[in-house]
Amino acid sequence: MILGVESTAHTFGVAVVSMDGEILSNVKDSYTTEGGGMIPLEVRRHHARVAPKVYTEALSVAGISESEIEAVAFSNAPGLAPCLLEGMEFVKKVAGRLGIPVVCVNHCVAHLEIGESVGAGDPVMLYASGANTQVIAYEAGKYRVFGETLDLGVGNFIDTVGRFMGLGFPAGPRIQQMAAEFEKSEIRNQKSDLLDLPYSVKGMDATSSRRQVSGVRCQPELIDLPYSVKGMDMSFSGMQTKIRNLIEKGEDKKKIAYSMQEVVFAMLVEVAERALAHTGKKELLLGGGVACNSRLVEMCRIMCSERDCKLFVPSRELLVDNAGMIGYLGLKMFRAGVFEKDSGKVDIAPRERADDVEVLWR
Ligand code: ATP
Ligand code: FE2
Repeated sequence: MILGVESTAHTFGVAVVSMDGEILSNVKDSYTTEGGGMIPLEVRRHHARVAPKVYTEALSVAGISESEIEAVAFSNAPGLAPCLLEGMEFVKKVAGRLGIPVVCVNHCVAHLEIGESVGAGDPVMLYASGANTQVIAYEAGKYRVFGETLDLGVGNFIDTVGRFMGLGFPAGPRIQQMAAEFEKSEIRNQKSDLLDLPYSVKGMDATSSRRQVSGVRCQPELIDLPYSVKGMDMSFSGMQTKIRNLIEKGEDKKKIAYSMQEVVFAMLVEVAERALAHTGKKELLLGGGVACNSRLVEMCRIMCSERDCKLFVPSRELLVDNAGMIGYLGLKMFRAGVFEKDSGKVDIAPRERADDVEVLWR
């Protein structure tokens, strides 16, 4: 067995992965607030507090004892330094006690590699999480970042807008709900305005019939928000400022939530589509907590079906920060001999990017 440990940001997680790559347990405890954002030192204290409980539970769910663990993989990069340090301290204690090697895993690459467990072979990944917004793919011996945010991560952007609205952290799920409520109520209000047009669904193809439905579905009017894609990169700060002003002026929060989702997700899908066109790859993989949003998934599905690409969406527990994906990639690296026997030499790398990683396991 190999142990996976995740602690790059709000989530402390421990997973047990068997030597044939099966995730036997994937336990986590995430820091949340009722109002306001997250403070790194408080998150560190959270991780220190929950670590023993999460570890014990991971072993008991997997039904193994400590002595069966052959190596411990942990996400040493990238992330918030205080959180990474807490994770590393925990890992060094376990490695020292059991006399086992440590594997240092890049969290972003782990989001991509876990795609293999849901059938992705050589995908372009749209990685949309709190801190990160990148489009990554493996090309010519390395993971390359084809496009990324120039300022905020999309999840942090959504969470900040949530904070302006007085929502707690994380705000993504609540914003999604508000957007859906707005769309529903608008459609109810507009129903009487519809002309009687022939509704004609031919065939049973799920995607095309969905598209025909959206053809007759009245799209609520969008608030005009800055759509900002520069080359392959994206920017959210202009939109954040505009939304802050709108909230201060008393604009309908649900309408803001709806408009923001439509515009921001269209930006993400555009960049992902360009990367697919550029690389000629035929698979799109989603990663990161924002990919839990069903509207984003729907937009990706439509784009993929139009390009004749396959879409891979890992289960929710593997999309968000989790230790299972760390153990999964850690196992591959361990097998390829990429590990450190002397845990004293292990360190964190808060700013390491996916394209900094030397890929020795493929
Ligand atoms: P990373 O370290 O990879 O940058 P992260 O620590 O920010 O990731 P994730 O667990 O991947 O964490 O994602 C958390 C983010 O996902 C939060 O910003 C949260 O608001 C967002 N999120 C979760 N569910 C939804 C949703 N349904 N719609 C939009 N955003 C969501
Ligand atoms: Fe993540």
